[in-house]
Amino acid sequence: MNPADPGRPAATPGEDPGSARLATETVHSPDTRPGAPGTTAGRRPATRVGLQPPSLRQQLLTWLVIPLALLLVAGTLFSYWVALRSATITYDRALLDPALALAEHVDSENGNTVFDLPKVAQDVLRIDSYDRIYFSISRLDGELLAGQPEMPPPPPVVPIGHRMFYYGVVNAETVRIAALYVPQAEGAVVIQVAETMVKRDRLTREILIGETIPDLMVATMAMVLVWFGILRSLAPLERLRGEIAQRSARDLRPLDGSYAPAEVRPLVGTLNELLGDLRDAIDAQQRFTANAAHQLRTPLAGLQTQVELALRQPAPEPMLRSLHQLRGATVRAAHLANQLLALSRAEPGGHRPDALRATDLRTVAQDAASTWVPRALPKDLDLGFELEPAPTVGDTRLLRDLLDNLIENAIRYTPIGGTITVRTAVEGDESVISVEDDGPGIPADQRERVFQRFYRVPGAIGDGSGLGLAIVQEIANVHRARVEIEDGPGGIGTRVRVRFARKARG
Ligand SMILES: Nc1ncnc2c1ncn2[C@@H]1O[C@H](COP(=O)(O)OP(=O)(O)OP(=O)(O)O)[C@@H](O)[C@H]1O
Ligand SMILES: [Mg+2]
Repeated sequence: MNPADPGRPAATPGEDPGSARLATETVHSPDTRPGAPGTTAGRRPATRVGLQPPSLRQQLLTWLVIPLALLLVAGTLFSYWVALRSATITYDRALLDPALALAEHVDSENGNTVFDLPKVAQDVLRIDSYDRIYFSISRLDGELLAGQPEMPPPPPVVPIGHRMFYYGVVNAETVRIAALYVPQAEGAVVIQVAETMVKRDRLTREILIGETIPDLMVATMAMVLVWFGILRSLAPLERLRGEIAQRSARDLRPLDGSYAPAEVRPLVGTLNELLGDLRDAIDAQQRFTANAAHQLRTPLAGLQTQVELALRQPAPEPMLRSLHQLRGATVRAAHLANQLLALSRAEPGGHRPDALRATDLRTVAQDAASTWVPRALPKDLDLGFELEPAPTVGDTRLLRDLLDNLIENAIRYTPIGGTITVRTAVEGDESVISVEDDGPGIPADQRERVFQRFYRVPGAIGDGSGLGLAIVQEIANVHRARVEIEDGPGGIGTRVRVRFARKARG
């Protein structure tokens, strides 16, 4: 109880943020309680404020995939253009051949231009397995000498080299035309040979497919490789995140950055420096509490002795009353110092991790029995021990502190003549220690708050400092054990159970 104000909680939850418990269930463990310091959800609430920058994966993908896609399209277009151009030149040359053959049969006779080629031979020139071929022989002014009249009139200007190629329309079909200009005494004659676009279109398609499909395959492979590359490169970051996420707030060991890539190692180093500073600060705080509590104990013990001596002297009644009050206050102060010392022992930095050894909860309880049985006698309490082997891995000193606090609570809060039972047993793969009594019980809505430091249930009797169950919780945390508070047997009183792993966890 708060000595300054008996009956009131010694502290409100908000006064001790370090020990605040946000959970609503009755099972306590550093790793399982939502909102507990050791849980991811509790320590790192997902707060989203404003626009989140894109993830590294997104950025890498964006910077790789978009330029890659653009390069692919540009590359495909360029090679398509090159292939199409050379194919067009080849087909154009082939188209010129019949024009040259026809030119052989153009002649001048008596001042007239004549074209002399039998119809059969003309038809032979027009044979093609894919396309329709047309030809015409005409003067520059468009006068048709021979051939198909549906051919478009030739361009009226003689080009350099006397030949040219262009697109035109014959019978509503696009055609490629080769025009050969043959000089004659009467004026130039133009031989036009046209062919439809069937084989050229087919070639265009083949080139397009031939260029695009391999490019697409390469691009797809590249994307898959890029994706795996990104996943692989980011895996160390993911591993680091996992390592940090699974830590409890009390685990301030340096992070293992050996697997991290060179770019991330400085970050791990900086984090480790921060963790080291935190460790030092917590150690310093813990040492201060331990030292202060320790230093207080000696003068308080002296004070207690002096008060006891003074009480044995004859003294007037008012002075005796003051001396009794002084003795009570001294006992409470000494108890508080002891509790603070026990709490600092259980805190990170207060104990050595290598003190965790294979032990048995039964032995711890057997040792405690001799201390507590005599203390139960003045209240006529039936303090019983039902002990079965309960092996675990733990720090016997801390386990004893834990049990002492549970038994002390049971003795303090159980009325005269009550029954208290301490049990140890194995349940499944857990070793359990429990203390049950038939006292007033702890109301269900208080079973979370009683673990807060300096918190006492309103109206609680006695002079407690509100630290006992906080010490129990800290010690359970050290052992990764779970503390459960429930009703005692038959719904009367309190049963506090602490569940330990039979073998070391993690
Ligand atoms: N066995 C119990 N029966 C009834 N109430 C209990 C029992 N154990 C704990 N409590 C309640 O829980 C509160 C917190 O217990 P805790 O042991 O943390 O503090 P305390 O006993 O008041 O002080 P301290 O243990 O530091 O001397 C107590 O004030 C009491 O109201
Ligand atoms: Mg207590």
